[in-house]
Amino acid sequence: MSGSEAETAIRKRDLEACRSPGTDLSRKSTIGVGVTTDLFFEPETLDELHRLRQLSDELDRDVFVIGGGSNLLFTSRARELILVELSGERFTCFEMSRKDDLFRIDTGAGQPLPPLVRHAVQNDWYTFGRLTGIPGTVGGAIYGNSGTREGEIGDFVSDVYILHPNRPEEHQLENPEFRYRWSSTQDELVLRVVLEGKNDPEDRENPPHERIQNNRQKTQPISERSAGCMFKNPENLSAGRLIDDAGLKGHRVGDAYVSQKHANFIVNDGEATPEEVINLIQDIQKKIQSSYGINLETEIQII
Ligand code: EPU
Repeated sequence: MSGSEAETAIRKRDLEACRSPGTDLSRKSTIGVGVTTDLFFEPETLDELHRLRQLSDELDRDVFVIGGGSNLLFTSRARELILVELSGERFTCFEMSRKDDLFRIDTGAGQPLPPLVRHAVQNDWYTFGRLTGIPGTVGGAIYGNSGTREGEIGDFVSDVYILHPNRPEEHQLENPEFRYRWSSTQDELVLRVVLEGKNDPEDRENPPHERIQNNRQKTQPISERSAGCMFKNPENLSAGRLIDDAGLKGHRVGDAYVSQKHANFIVNDGEATPEEVINLIQDIQKKIQSSYGINLETEIQII
């Protein structure tokens, strides 16, 4: 499919209004690395989202929702995708309600998770503080079942609503499943999520968000540009400790380097390119394989 055929298909589907050609993806990623693309869309309605999916069939290119760009690396392959940001009101609004001691948050998938968690905690819904520090949107967190030492978003999920396979309507996903950094929602366009939780008896005295925040400040390079933890923890092991023990802290390719503070973070301290980050990832994987015989899998998505 040539560029001009894609342009024709976009016009035919009346999608120009929600498209931003020439989008610099480095501005859409927390690590600040990326290419530019002409296929970047911010739909406002379910109808537009449905038409984007039709465009995807027509152009034979996958739709990819970028979430908050926090655990993503955009390479030149991103140009082959139809990238979608669910930043419109329809996809970011949320409602909080309470029944006895059960707290309920009904939220659009495009809503950023950190302010939602802060809001819940400010209302004394301390249990949601277990998700403190997870960057990006609710939908992004759901996709990879993001979590902290104290819990994963999947622990809180009651209902997940996706775009109906054939119509511009919401459709409830049956029995969503969550495992370590994985969920069964990955092939779906998640629109809305209902989270539920109850405070533990000790949460008021010792709120989870305070524990996590203190620990993150001490142990993670939170003020630098990174994509969060780069690798999944192998079973019963810590990727950060393995990389640290292998002597890779500070190892650099171009403007990308392994954080001195936490070895599972790759930091961009200049104008790192996707290739530099990929080369650094591969250096780490090779070293961990040769030193320990362990295959480190990336936690971030490389698209
Ligand atoms: N460690 C080192 N050197 C390092 C980093 C860590 O020796 O450079 C040691 C620590 O001292 C600790 C152990 O490794 O004894 C584990 O480290 P940490 O407590 O920082 O936890 P983690 O397993 O590396 C996980 C999540 C983080 C989450 C933290 C805290 C994964 C891959 N990582 O990190 O999630 O913030 O627990 O809850 O599951 C993310 O998903 O992006 C992420 C950062």
